[in-house]
Amino acid sequence: MEIKAVKFRKDGFYAQPFVFGGEEGADKFDSKVKYRGSLQNYLIDTGDDVILVDTGLPAGTPEEVPDENSIIYTGKDICSYMEAFAALGYKPEQVTKILLTHKHGDHSGELKSFPNAKIYVNEEELSADELQGIDNFVPVSFTDGAYYNFPESQKIQDGIYLVKAKGHTNGNSLVIAENDGLFYMFEADITYVDEALYENKLSVVFDNLPAARDTLDRVREFVRNHPTVYMGTHTPQGYENLEAKRVMDLDNPVPTVFAEVDLSQTESSGKYVCSICGYIYDPDEHEGVAFEELPEDWKCPRCKQGKDKFNKA
Ligand SMILES: [Fe+2]
Repeated sequence: MEIKAVKFRKDGFYAQPFVFGGEEGADKFDSKVKYRGSLQNYLIDTGDDVILVDTGLPAGTPEEVPDENSIIYTGKDICSYMEAFAALGYKPEQVTKILLTHKHGDHSGELKSFPNAKIYVNEEELSADELQGIDNFVPVSFTDGAYYNFPESQKIQDGIYLVKAKGHTNGNSLVIAENDGLFYMFEADITYVDEALYENKLSVVFDNLPAARDTLDRVREFVRNHPTVYMGTHTPQGYENLEAKRVMDLDNPVPTVFAEVDLSQTESSGKYVCSICGYIYDPDEHEGVAFEELPEDWKCPRCKQGKDKFNKA
C-alpha cells in the first residue's frame, strides 16, 4: 500500500480563535497566533485499487484575498485538485473508490470527475447541498460494529475502514488505513491543525458540538493507544507526518512552525468566498448588495457559517 498527498493549496493560515475556540469561545484566544495552512487530500494505492480520500475543491474556485481581520485563509493555488491528482501519474478512470469524509467543498469538490468510482459516505451526509446531482454514492450505515474504541465502523476492504466520527458535520467520518503496523488516520477536520489535537481543542466549525467533543476524545484515546500517523487536510503537518511516517505522540508535540502571513495581495473582484464550504457570494446575484452591507448576523446560505468565515475573492 502506498499513500500519497494530493496537494493543491499552500501558504494559508488558521488563527488560534478559529482552530481552538469551539468550546471556550473564539474570544478566549489570540487572533495574532496563526498556524500554517494548506489544502491536500489523499490517495491510497493498494496495488489493485486506486482509492481517494476526498476530492478537493471544484475547479475554478477563486483564491481568497486575506486581510488583517481574516481568521482563516485556505492559501494560494498550487494547481487545481484534478491537476494535482494527474501529477501523481493516475487517470480518473483508474479510481475505483472514493471515501468521502464529509460534505464540505474542499473535500467533495471533484466527486463527479471519477466515472468508475463508487463514493462511500455516511448516509446521514447525503442530504447536504454540496452532494446533490451525483449518483454513484454507496450510503454507509456502519454495520460492522466497533473499530477499537470507535463504536461504529464499516470495513471498506482489507485494512481500510470508514469510522463514524460525527460532530464537525453530522455525517462526518474518519478513514483509517492499516499498513506495516501503523494506523494512517485521515482525520476529516476533527482538527484543522495538529496543535488542536495536542491542546485538546475543537474548532469553531461544527454541526454538533457534543458529538465533536466525543469524537475528539476518542481520537486522542486511539492515538495514545495505537501508533498513528495523523493526516489533516488543512495543514502541511498532514503530509509532513505522512512523509516522515511520524507516529503522533500527544506528550511530545512537534514544535509549532507559525505561518508567515502575506497580506500584500489586495486586488479583489467584489465577490466573497466561504472558507468553510466554498460558497461564492457575488453581489451581481444579490441585486448589487455588497457583502460588506449584509447584516452582521448574515449566514452562509450553504453551510450556515458567519460572515467572519468569508474572505474576499
Ligand atoms: Fe470541513
